[in-house]
Amino acid sequence: MPKKLVDTKDLVNIDELTNSQILQIIARANEFKAGSQTTLPKAERFATNMFFENSTRTHNSFHIAETKLGINIIEFNASESSIEKGESLYDTVLALCAIGVDLCVIRHQDNNYYNQLINQKSITASIVNAGDGNGEHPSQCLLDLMTIKEEFTNFTNLKVAIVGDISHSRVAVSDAKALKSLGCEIYFSGPPIWYNSKFEAYGKYKTLDELVPNMDIIIMLRVQHERHKTETKFSKTKYHKTFGLTTQRARKMKNSAIIMHPAPVNRNVELADELIESKQSRIVQQMSNGVFTRMAIIENVLKNKELHDL
Ligand code: CP
Repeated sequence: MPKKLVDTKDLVNIDELTNSQILQIIARANEFKAGSQTTLPKAERFATNMFFENSTRTHNSFHIAETKLGINIIEFNASESSIEKGESLYDTVLALCAIGVDLCVIRHQDNNYYNQLINQKSITASIVNAGDGNGEHPSQCLLDLMTIKEEFTNFTNLKVAIVGDISHSRVAVSDAKALKSLGCEIYFSGPPIWYNSKFEAYGKYKTLDELVPNMDIIIMLRVQHERHKTETKFSKTKYHKTFGLTTQRARKMKNSAIIMHPAPVNRNVELADELIESKQSRIVQQMSNGVFTRMAIIENVLKNKELHDL
């Protein structure tokens, strides 16, 4: 599928970026990791991080990334905002733009919430999607790609398994799209009821036992009980035994293969406790890379916004 080049004043889903733009963001994130300073022109800038769903990694790493870039952060607490008085998301962001906010990082429970904000004349701030429902999580995807590139240098022909609660995960969709576009071979696993036609375009379903010995990368995903409309039928033990990366399964991985997980992790459900900080795990590295990736994303959207504003 040809990729569309669009104005990247905003970053709301991973399809907006060409492979070349993805690689540029990763390269810039690597420079930040090596100690590079921002090349944003000197100016006073303001950001607000609007989280309507809970977050530890994404919220705090955007906060650190903004601080490292010298951006002033306007505190936003959804439950104390005028959203509680019935103000719409559009009107809230409009107000923030009017008072001088340059960047809104938004996590929201509704898929595609950003459609009401992007390409609107009065929404002058850059909008960065920090996760929408089970839609997309582009900054998680880019930090995953940075972590994979650090390990393997190239993406071509890498075999990647995306495993677990794929139908409720925004990471599954963003990672599958970008990894396939970059030349990886994608497979899915987990309870077959969570594999649906949305994923067929990216890769086939196989059992975890079929996949483990052949994969270069195993991305385990959290069971997202908060998104399940009906109670999951699996007990934690049964889920772990049938669909999880147990220590026994992990012993069958290639020596060069790595384990990833966007976290938070349900220990001993999708992943055995002792694998989280094991030699083959890159989970902590993913979290650290999140700061540098988000610095690169913010620098990129703000540079584009400033060109846009001229
Ligand atoms: N991976 C991720 O998005 O984590 P948080 O929900 O803690 O931000």
